[in-house]
Amino acid sequence: LSIVVLISGGGSNLRALLEAAEDAEFPARVIAVGADRDAEGLAHAEEFGIPSFTVPFNSFARREEWGDALLEQLRQWQPDLVILSGFMRLVPPRVVAEYSPYLINTHPAYLPEFPGAHGVRDALAAGVTQTGASLIVVDDGVDAGPIISQERIPIHPGDSEASLHERIKPVERRLLVQAVLDIANGHIDLKELSRA
Ligand code: GRF
Repeated sequence: LSIVVLISGGGSNLRALLEAAEDAEFPARVIAVGADRDAEGLAHAEEFGIPSFTVPFNSFARREEWGDALLEQLRQWQPDLVILSGFMRLVPPRVVAEYSPYLINTHPAYLPEFPGAHGVRDALAAGVTQTGASLIVVDDGVDAGPIISQERIPIHPGDSEASLHERIKPVERRLLVQAVLDIANGHIDLKELSRA
């Protein structure tokens, strides 16, 4: 299974995939890493010798042009699966149309709770005692696609956004690596999931 991972930040989830793929038995390979900016996480691709590309959002006059440039890059790699991991842009509709349901996203909340760009902060602000991590299929909504897997995570009194996010990320990493395994060996059928 060939994967392109799209990031915007530190890429800790990306790194977990790169480390998992070091195992020759792992049935998936990250063939390229893309970013919408000069993301710190691109250093992980460099370290593992994986090609990377950036399609800087701020270099394009219009969102549509940025989306087309991103789609062109993805087409060059012909991935079986595109994984958004800390990618902080809305996925261009043409990318969704071409890759979904083989287009998945990690989200640091228990969807449908707390969708959007500040899921960790919103859960904390809501004063709830638990949140979660979710892996979903990206469709043309925002964090609204079919849920692949998710897990509850406790919020501790005194948690900051950072401490809570640090408790969420390891769970995201585990869910992501497991889902890639399950997709690669057919235990998860993304087309089936999207029809349900
Ligand atoms: C992850 O929690 C991801 O779910 C969210 O942003 C964070 C990115 O972390 N969208 P990283 O860039 O993978 O370290």
